Amino acid sequence: MKLSGDFLKMKQNHEKIVMLTAYDYPSAKLAEQSGVDMILVGDSLGMVVLGYDSTIPVTVNDMIHHTKAVKRGAPDTFVVTDMPFMSYHLSLDETLKNAARIMQEGHADAVKVEGADEVVEKISALTKAGIPVIAHLGLTPQSVGVLGGYKVQGKDAEAAAQLVEDAKKCEAAGAIAIVFECVPYQVGELVTQNLAIPTIGIGAGAETDGQVLVYHDVISYGVDRVAKFVKVYGNANELISNSITSYVNEVKTKDFPTKEHTFTMKEEQLSALYG
Ligand code: KIV
Ligand code: NA
Repeated sequence: MKLSGDFLKMKQNHEKIVMLTAYDYPSAKLAEQSGVDMILVGDSLGMVVLGYDSTIPVTVNDMIHHTKAVKRGAPDTFVVTDMPFMSYHLSLDETLKNAARIMQEGHADAVKVEGADEVVEKISALTKAGIPVIAHLGLTPQSVGVLGGYKVQGKDAEAAAQLVEDAKKCEAAGAIAIVFECVPYQVGELVTQNLAIPTIGIGAGAETDGQVLVYHDVISYGVDRVAKFVKVYGNANELISNSITSYVNEVKTKDFPTKEHTFTMKEEQLSALYG
């Protein structure tokens, strides 16, 4: 299993880091088999798995439940779990307790937190407690209400400079990597050059040290629309719905099950049964 030191080396060697979200046993297993470097149990699970319309309703218990399944599916992959909305804001004590549960009950290898400002001291406290932390800057979905919507961040010079400053604070606090979401590619490049730790982009251009995408977006599974920064590589919607439709039709037309899916009782037992 790759550890945070390996990701640092990958940045130094200009070897791209591939991160993908996963939320359960089969998705994690396929991600690991396919060569993903790092799995994120994202709180995006609130939307793509649980059907909420934002990440706000997701709880620490939800994150633990899904992380356990992911770790069972991908025992040899570095698994990062999102600390959900408000689980790292009330106090340092609450933050440490919640992160400890995610590590001890969920078996995560690291946690991810959104934002800088008052979150920087949380990154520092978690790191000091031995918990690797990935920071998340730019578009931070847990603050969508304050940001005023899901839109590109860091578009003007001042905002871009602020992002660099925030990133450096997260790095100084001990973050092992930083996710940048929805920023111009020039900002993705700037932060990547300005940090020793790896940058992982989603909608942040090609120059970040790594990329992350949401599992369901990559394979088009249960989602109808994807953001501009997503590339869809497969069509699970079509595969699954065609398969289920065929099953329904074959049961109705009695084409399923056939002999090959059926158990048979021996002739002599049948005679004994009917006498
Ligand atoms: O929850 C998530 O999937 C994320 C990624 C988009 C970075 O935080
Ligand atoms: Na997230």
